[in-house]
Amino acid sequence: MGRYSFNKRLFLPMCAHPKIDPISGELFADQSPPPLLLGEPGQEEEPRFRRSQIRGHPSHPDRGISWIDVPDWTSFHYINAWEEGTDKIVVLSSSITPVEHLFDDIAGLSNRLHEIHLDLRSGWSWKQHVCSAGLDFGQINQKFLRRKNRYVYMCYYGPWPKISGLAKVDLDAPRLPKVVIDGTSDPDLNEPCLVASRRFERGQFCGKPFFVVNGKEEDDGCVLSYIHDEESGVSELLVMDAKSPTLETVASIELPARVPYGFHGIFINADQIANQNHATL
Ligand SMILES: [Fe+2]
Repeated sequence: MGRYSFNKRLFLPMCAHPKIDPISGELFADQSPPPLLLGEPGQEEEPRFRRSQIRGHPSHPDRGISWIDVPDWTSFHYINAWEEGTDKIVVLSSSITPVEHLFDDIAGLSNRLHEIHLDLRSGWSWKQHVCSAGLDFGQINQKFLRRKNRYVYMCYYGPWPKISGLAKVDLDAPRLPKVVIDGTSDPDLNEPCLVASRRFERGQFCGKPFFVVNGKEEDDGCVLSYIHDEESGVSELLVMDAKSPTLETVASIELPARVPYGFHGIFINADQIANQNHATL
């Protein structure tokens, strides 16, 4: 065991959730420390994690680095980002608020899906809530990384940090008025963006899902996740139809041993396994 250095090419601390451009093969990741660790709870001045900064423009390195403030926003998980025209970037991310209570008041936390719009010409930013449901750990069809995507597969918390269900969000669906979306998450609110939803049985919780492509359309494929039943002790790999409005089960594979709950998941296909580099530490 040891720290993997990607054949001595990685010499900086990096956060989880790197994204690989499916066309160029470039890998993008945050450099540690993450923004939420920059502030000191209880300090007199405004905690630094209240203002996140994003830099661009990845497709035009000749422009240098532009830092754009995004006030009152903390990303918990970046999902995707794409360019619109030559001067605008949209970042898709889930936030967590208030982040300073991440470790001492988890019942009061709220996770929401946002679009962060960055105007590189003016340096302005604005955030747009996508839906009111408490959702996190978004996954998309990986072919759309760095390109505008339509669908996001996300997790319902309950009780935090366990994951009690999954949802499919349509970014192109009509958005509810801001005043509604900004309000308290209401499970009975009929949100057009929630095009599929599945709550697991009492005592069942899953890990972060992963979307596996099987077709040409963006949502042709399956959503995979490990699920554990705390009452029966049974663990399964659940394969769900991504097009089904209830994320219907296509197959379930009972596991010989429990896979612990994990915030994160990935699917590696046979070609990727065959072509991976062998590690030298
Ligand atoms: Fe994470």
